[in-house]
Amino acid sequence: MSWRATILTLFPDMFPGPLGLSLAGRALREGRWAIEALDIRSFATDRHRTVDDTPFGGGAGMVMRPDVLDLACEAATSRNPGAPLVYLTPRGRRLDQALVRDLAAGPGVTVLCGRYEGVDQRVIEARQMVEVSAGDFVLSGGEPAALLMLDACIRLLPGVMGAAASAEEESHGAEGLLEYPHYTRPAEWQGRKVPEVLLSGHHAEVARWRRAEAEAATRTRRPDLWERYQTRAGAEPKQAKAGRLDGHPAAA
Ligand code: ADE
Repeated sequence: MSWRATILTLFPDMFPGPLGLSLAGRALREGRWAIEALDIRSFATDRHRTVDDTPFGGGAGMVMRPDVLDLACEAATSRNPGAPLVYLTPRGRRLDQALVRDLAAGPGVTVLCGRYEGVDQRVIEARQMVEVSAGDFVLSGGEPAALLMLDACIRLLPGVMGAAASAEEESHGAEGLLEYPHYTRPAEWQGRKVPEVLLSGHHAEVARWRRAEAEAATRTRRPDLWERYQTRAGAEPKQAKAGRLDGHPAAA
């Protein structure tokens, strides 16, 4: 059974979209993962196929109805048993590589893409959704965030990256550092030279330089990651990782 993504959306035509191309597209054709987009509107029960309504308490925008979404969730869950139900929302915990790794290691994921102002809170709680945000910005809907999250998961599935360098060395890899900078030919371009050490053939020196560059980049660009890296490096033995799909208010 391949890793399965079931998407609940008002715009099923957005899927697989870019995930049908390149690395993810080839893996899709090879059967390493599967995707199914279900149209939330098809679960509406009234003549007008209503999926949203005005918010209680007043205010701008519309809210997606719990009864319609619950039917959609039921259908998705039965097609993707055991997969966590992720609701993409700027109110969620921020997506990171640790969560991506956890999702990729499981059977797949069911993803609810919100539109309008949001989703009725009761169905979020009743269905124990894991609320996840793509970052501290607001999209017009959850679909681009779903594509982004799925892309990050798919590249970690067995056989997808092939012989590409291990996922350990890249930014946000196991080390928790940003990646060192890369260079290729020509050795000099527009008067800019490749760092000498990379041409030296001294593997140990190259490794030392790369680590120093990775640490410097992390320290200056991402003080938050640097802080965590230092804490981890100092902690012996390494701390057990918290369950990343647990401990979320909606999953409690
Ligand atoms: N929907 C709207 N904005 C979003 C974000 N930042 N992350 C996930 N889903 C969203």
